[in-house]
Amino acid sequence: MNETPPIRRVTAPDIKARKANSPIVSLTSYHAHTAAIVDRYADFILVGDSLGMVMHGMDSTVPVPLDLMIMHGKAVVRGTKQALIVVDMPFGTYEESPQIAFRNAAKIMKETNCGAVKLEGGARMAETIGFLVERGIPVMAHIGLTPQSTNILGGFKTQGRDEDSWPLHLEDAKAVAHAGAFALVLEGMVEPLAAKITKSIDIPTIGIGASADCDGQILVLEDMLGLNPNPPKFVKSYGNLLQDIETAVGNYAEDVRSRAFPTPEQTYKIK
Ligand code: KIV
Repeated sequence: MNETPPIRRVTAPDIKARKANSPIVSLTSYHAHTAAIVDRYADFILVGDSLGMVMHGMDSTVPVPLDLMIMHGKAVVRGTKQALIVVDMPFGTYEESPQIAFRNAAKIMKETNCGAVKLEGGARMAETIGFLVERGIPVMAHIGLTPQSTNILGGFKTQGRDEDSWPLHLEDAKAVAHAGAFALVLEGMVEPLAAKITKSIDIPTIGIGASADCDGQILVLEDMLGLNPNPPKFVKSYGNLLQDIETAVGNYAEDVRSRAFPTPEQTYKIK
């Protein structure tokens, strides 16, 4: 008898082991139905706090509450079988102390059943990353353009344009790798800096606007599908859903007004 082996979810150690190997594929997803599609192609799926801006019309990721991340995290885990699910820790839930970070990360893991959390920050978060990892919580780190710090950075600004800033970014990358992070997101960063960081640490770097010199890539799903009318420069378009939805909704409205919908085909009849 030909038995298909049970599907095993990708784990944080699996991702870590991919350093300098074949490129790691990743996308964000916030819902069960899109996650089910992404699951067939991606190594890991990030339930990013970008959902505050992409789905909920917020101006930044700063207002995103923990409960919202948990709600979307649950949906993505329910919709998937294979990819590692990483859930973002939102602003204000991990910076204050390692203990508070552990409490909130444990809540995310217990309630969503995800496989890892992600948090923003380099050297300043190293102690917290070590604290979480020692207690069983796999952590993905995130440096460079860190959207939760947009009020300090003065906007969404590409990092590393000035070579004098490179030692600090390198120090951040080495600190989080040394603390036990299993992977590191590099966001909005010039190519030579991303290449230098990728060569300097033994965990995979996942680039978003950080060039091809990373061990993997991630994009916001809605950006690459063409649902964002003003996507960042680093996004390659793989669809035009905004136009498709506009056309579909317009056609529906026209059909309802002209009574072209519903037809007998969409109508229940008695026996
Ligand atoms: O929230 C998010 O979508 C992210 C990605 C941009 C990496 O953190």
